Amino acid sequence: MKSILKTVEAGFRERFRSTIAPLATRALRQAAAGCQGLEDYVTLAARFRFLGIRIAPLQVPSEIIPLLGLLARDPPKTVLEIGTAKGGSLFLFSRVAAEDATLISLDLPHGPFGGGYAAWRGRFYRSFARARQQIESVRADSHARTTRDRVRNLLRGAPIDFLFIDGDHRYEGVRADFEDYSPLVRDGGWVGFHDIVPGPERGVGGVPRFWAELKPTGRVEEFVADWGQQAAGIGVWRK
Ligand SMILES: C[S@@+](CC[C@H](N)C(=O)[O-])C[C@H]1O[C@@H](n2cnc3c(N)ncnc32)[C@H](O)[C@@H]1O
Repeated sequence: MKSILKTVEAGFRERFRSTIAPLATRALRQAAAGCQGLEDYVTLAARFRFLGIRIAPLQVPSEIIPLLGLLARDPPKTVLEIGTAKGGSLFLFSRVAAEDATLISLDLPHGPFGGGYAAWRGRFYRSFARARQQIESVRADSHARTTRDRVRNLLRGAPIDFLFIDGDHRYEGVRADFEDYSPLVRDGGWVGFHDIVPGPERGVGGVPRFWAELKPTGRVEEFVADWGQQAAGIGVWRK
């Protein structure tokens, strides 16, 4: 009985949030207009709260800020994020992407390592777009061939400038995402990975092992607050 009530309550909560999402869009836009730089955007994403709607990224500020700095030096025109969850990292990528960029969020509803997002959030995430940007939401399994086809169609032949892999953290999962989507990245483009710091399997999965294998194969940068933190850490590999 208790669990039925909890499910009903969660359903009402989600319906309420989907109704007020346009107001949250307006509040987020107003707050973003007052930001002066990357640190401000990261603080906003972490703290934003509108009647229960939050976008807090699952990122360590001192790790995501230098990644955003690297991207801002040559603003990507195409971004694919595998694993968006509450939308915070997608919001931040939209701040540094080119004014006419296409950003694609790919996430599996109820997926492991974060839980995906509801359809109304897909619409909310599209509203993160600034200037002439376009944000697309694909709620599907990154490992399915049909998903890869959808992503290819959305790219309309354009290569990916920045691919961020933060979805299925199992060793086979992160490896498959790299093998399936890195061929779509342009030469000189970046592939980023979250959770490269060794830690418990349920947190970082097999990402540290895959990163250790990939690292010697190219030019990489690592943004890690503390190698003893047992989670998080961002690695980027240049194609
Ligand atoms: C750690 S969260 C992403 C966090 C987000 N990038 C951030 O920094 O706030 C991981 C997400 O990956 C998604 N995911 C897991 N397996 C997936 C799969 N096979 N395909 C697509 N998304 C997947 C989960 O649903 C979850 O929302």
